[in-house]
Amino acid sequence: MRGADVIRVLIADEIARIVGDLEKLEAYGDVVDVCGVAHQASAVIEEAWLRQPDVLVLHERFAELPGADFAAHLASVSPATRVVLMTSGAAPVAADTWTAGAISESATAPELLEAISIAAGVVPPDADPEIGFTGPEIRAPKGRATVVVAFSGKGGTGTSMVATNLAVMLAQGAGGHAALVDIDLQFGDAAGMLHVENHLLTIADLASHGDEIDSALLDEVLATGPADVRVLRTPSSPELAEAVSGATVRSIIRATAKGREFVVIDTPSQVDERVLEAFELADRLLLVTSYNLSSVRGTKSTLLLLEALGVDMESVDVVLNHTRSRTNYRREDIEEILGRRILVDLPYDPRVDPSLDSGTPIVLAQPRAELARRLIALAQLIAVPRRPADAGAIEIPELEPPTYRRRFSLGRR
Ligand SMILES: Nc1ncnc2c1ncn2[C@@H]1O[C@H](COP(=O)(O)OP(=O)(O)OP(=O)(O)O)[C@@H](O)[C@H]1O
Ligand SMILES: [Mg+2]
Repeated sequence: MRGADVIRVLIADEIARIVGDLEKLEAYGDVVDVCGVAHQASAVIEEAWLRQPDVLVLHERFAELPGADFAAHLASVSPATRVVLMTSGAAPVAADTWTAGAISESATAPELLEAISIAAGVVPPDADPEIGFTGPEIRAPKGRATVVVAFSGKGGTGTSMVATNLAVMLAQGAGGHAALVDIDLQFGDAAGMLHVENHLLTIADLASHGDEIDSALLDEVLATGPADVRVLRTPSSPELAEAVSGATVRSIIRATAKGREFVVIDTPSQVDERVLEAFELADRLLLVTSYNLSSVRGTKSTLLLLEALGVDMESVDVVLNHTRSRTNYRREDIEEILGRRILVDLPYDPRVDPSLDSGTPIVLAQPRAELARRLIALAQLIAVPRRPADAGAIEIPELEPPTYRRRFSLGRR
């Protein structure tokens, strides 16, 4: 458990038994918060990823995969979650190595509470303390940084909020080996959102160096923000930004990726040469969309554009963000319009604005807020390889040599 007083529990079971468990836990609302339920076996991992529970109460009938595989999958999406296995027999079976306890489905309310508390580490177990497993640290594949681009075809959807929170979270998980590069040269304010706006050197100071951006120069130009994230800020005056070409952005991304684990790029809402370079070098492209038709249409157009440009659509994900407290649309409606699933749905939180103003992103300021939990889950998803089972086999290519050729263009060259 992550130092919280209330244990967050996800229950994965058939509806009828979930209702029974909720009744059993109702009296313990001050210590147990049922943050989610999964009533289909196929939804357990996704719910765990979204909710980041402290404890997953999993009925054995829902454990479709062999235990170790399930544990590895769960650990990759929600590393801190401990599993309590619920069994059909009257007496609980002995806990398996991938679980933190087992309990019978006919257990009494106090017994269920005790099993959850032991799994969460609140009550010391009488049994062998070696049970359970530990999830991976935030870690990118070795070689060079994972480049993550946050983009939106419409302004004001929360792209910078997502980029700054992700960058800080990834930096925290990777011992500071993460950078945020702001290429919204006209209006970008990632530096203000991370309270490093007084750092004098900016992206414009790298423009005259072409391909010769060495690590010492970069180190001087990068500011250091919360969780030791390194930040490349935009110049205070837009004329200075004119010298920053697509080629400059390419060489900045390549230089920043060296020796780091993650580079997050915040972008403007229009596609220009610099944004194209970022798209091309991205390992993960997050399209940030808010709950309004204009934003959803912007995302639809961006998806079509990316497809036309030949971007690997496997690397593209849609992030739905509530910038307002009330909306007229459902996530499913938006998925239907876009023709693809939404990776994560970020709730509205009135503390976002003050957190951005104060320079401390919500993942640090309010880590237990639902929005922060989901942003942390998103960072974890980015940090672990997509296919954990194949992780050892993934070859990370070196960044392109100087003779690099575009894979796509908008016909402007
Ligand atoms: N989940 C949220 N809850 C509450 N407010 C939010 C949320 N996400 C974003 N906001 C607010 O919405 C506004 C726009 O956010 P942000 O600047 O991140 O968007 P953007 O897409 O980068 O905009 P721009 O096009 O100006 O660069 C900010 O005031 C921010 O505080
Ligand atoms: Mg922005």
